[in-house]
Amino acid sequence: MSMIIISSLEELWAARATLKGPVGLVPTMGYLHAGHISLARRAKAECQSVIATIFVNPTQFGPNEDLSRYPRSLERDLQLLEAAGVDLVWTPTAQELYPPDFQTWVNVEQITQPLEGAMRPGHFRGVTTIVSKLFNATRPEKAYFGQKDAQQVAVISQMTRDMNHPIEIIVCPTMREDDGLAMSSRNSYLSAEERQAATVLYCALLTATRAFEGGETNAEKLRQVVREVISSEPRAQLQYVSCADYATLAELQTVDHKALLSLAVFIGKTRLIDNFVLG
Ligand code: PAJ
Repeated sequence: MSMIIISSLEELWAARATLKGPVGLVPTMGYLHAGHISLARRAKAECQSVIATIFVNPTQFGPNEDLSRYPRSLERDLQLLEAAGVDLVWTPTAQELYPPDFQTWVNVEQITQPLEGAMRPGHFRGVTTIVSKLFNATRPEKAYFGQKDAQQVAVISQMTRDMNHPIEIIVCPTMREDDGLAMSSRNSYLSAEERQAATVLYCALLTATRAFEGGETNAEKLRQVVREVISSEPRAQLQYVSCADYATLAELQTVDHKALLSLAVFIGKTRLIDNFVLG
């Protein structure tokens, strides 16, 4: 059976009714790379049917962010999704999902406060609102997200529990380029020199993780290792580094249980994020 491609909500409801369960959902903003495709393949391995969505969600972008220049490649995306075995692609429109009188938001109040939430006010409100709309429209049994966006996974898991969505959230490992750079649609903004410089994120996380594995459990010392490695790259500007409790995302003094080491770095004008799990 060839892949169904649908834009309107009404067609989606009709097509959804024909899919055999369990259904797996892979939400994306398009410009797909091997990270996205790993989610689709995992969904295909675990579910009878797979729905992927492509929607550059305007409500999760801040006023000074990259909404209008966010990269797009719909034809290529559709080919990659078909090759991964996806059954249905939904490409909703902003007009249908956010009509002019739209006024209802889903907001997770606490774990959205630090890290990405502190740097990008309103970002997670946009993410949880769109993801709950995607959940309502597609009614999947399982939904697949990447560890690359660690706080997003934590926020969506919280939202899913709090709103009683009967959906299992599956977290998939971060896919990386050969030199360690985490795959991201935003890597396409980098010049050749910046692309080289961008490996410093992975380098910093690796160096700090080696220190942790060598016995360093002082969280501030681990954050300091990251700062030093990032400052060695002239094209890189650290926005934040965090060594936080994996569940609450509160900053730690001592890494004596599962922790998230994460950072946001500007390479020129491009903002990149990455993370490793410790312990
Ligand atoms: P987007 O950035 O397109 O990412 C879609 C999914 O792919 C997310 O779950 C993300 O964590 C995952 N992903 C991105 N890069 C990855 C990598 N290198 N390895 C593994 N997985 C990776 O995240 C979003 O879109 C949006 O916020 C969305 C959830 C679709 C809501 O609009």
